Amino acid sequence: MSLEGLLPELAVIRKDFPILERTLAGGMPLVYLDSANTSQKPQVVIDTMVDHLERHNANIARAMHQLGAESTEAFEAARDKVAAFIGAPERDEVIFTKNASEALNLVANTLAWAGPRRVGEGDEVVITEMEHHSNIVPWQLLTQRTGATLRWFGLTDEGRLDLSNIDQLINERTKVVSLTWVSNMLGTINPIAEITRKAHAVGAIVVVDASQAAPQLPIDLAAMPADERPDLVAFTGHKVVGPTGIGVLWGSRAVLDELPPFLGGGEMIETVRMEGSTYAGIPHKFEAGTPPIVEAIGLGAAVDYLGHVGMDAIHRHEQAITAYALEGLQSVKGLTVLGPLDAASRGGAISFELDGVHPHDIAQVLDSRGVAVRAGHHCAKPAHARFGVQSSTRMSSYLYTEPREIDALVEALEYTRSYFKLD
Ligand code: ALA
Repeated sequence: MSLEGLLPELAVIRKDFPILERTLAGGMPLVYLDSANTSQKPQVVIDTMVDHLERHNANIARAMHQLGAESTEAFEAARDKVAAFIGAPERDEVIFTKNASEALNLVANTLAWAGPRRVGEGDEVVITEMEHHSNIVPWQLLTQRTGATLRWFGLTDEGRLDLSNIDQLINERTKVVSLTWVSNMLGTINPIAEITRKAHAVGAIVVVDASQAAPQLPIDLAAMPADERPDLVAFTGHKVVGPTGIGVLWGSRAVLDELPPFLGGGEMIETVRMEGSTYAGIPHKFEAGTPPIVEAIGLGAAVDYLGHVGMDAIHRHEQAITAYALEGLQSVKGLTVLGPLDAASRGGAISFELDGVHPHDIAQVLDSRGVAVRAGHHCAKPAHARFGVQSSTRMSSYLYTEPREIDALVEALEYTRSYFKLD
């Protein structure tokens, strides 16, 4: 089949990721197809972090010496880079968190506490059945604690959002709509603009979990029409070739200014008296304590790297690899793909079942051939339940994935069939 859209400089890109040279037990070359779980890191990210620790390490914003100034400058430069990566209208709207889960918990907690957007009894929060647990549990906690009602979009048999009841689900009681941009299990790309328009029309805010979208879709928040732009967007660093321990919450200044602080501590205050405190403006209001400094700087290098390759080109590459993988996987007898079969409207994570073999067994046999995939419920139990399965096997590609790695997966799946003596 045609592989139009592959990154032309793929061989050069692969050399940027030292781990891809690795061999595993038995001399098997690594075939890394678990990038939706965590992406691999280019040398420039590793070097940037090492250089910071070797030469510039100091606390930020509170050390009155040269190293402190260098460290603060590097940390704030990382904020600029992340803001550019997502086209944030303002750089101060970018808040560093520990991960996407913390970003989503920040929003779900502060919405319960105070402010004009406070969620309370009689209000409704809408999510979807395809969410990662980190975009389900915080909203369950919020609604249980406040007496609000949690509602959700169901899924079609094809693995898309069932929008047939959107007018009932998003109504004048809706305070928040929170959904994933790209499903980590089904790969589905959701119609964020359409849902945001609908939510804004009833005065609700929209929170988007972009953990799987940020790695593969070009995002330009400033270019989105205001009624289609989500109010808050969360993603994690380690899926965009950055380190673990760093996540991002972008929010419009208007909404972030209305939310109360999440964690209290150093550097999030304006002044502190024993009787009470006043708080810094954004972003510092939400960054209590010493932040993950070198992790943020590593993330800055990561999004710079992706920006140099080009997010449009990365998206085209993912689509080409996904189309190739969908075709290869479906050639395996007894294999069923969960989620849309059209590569153009989905992301690069493909979950599947192989009749008669447990996903953990599949992953283990694949691993013995050097092929790394994820097996389990992928922290998306409700989405699995919707399709009547406990768990699945998932392959996920990224900008460094080559067609020959998909061939290796398909061959290893054929080997799995023979290993388990499937006819
Ligand atoms: N949420 C990550 C995944 O889908 C960890 O694998």
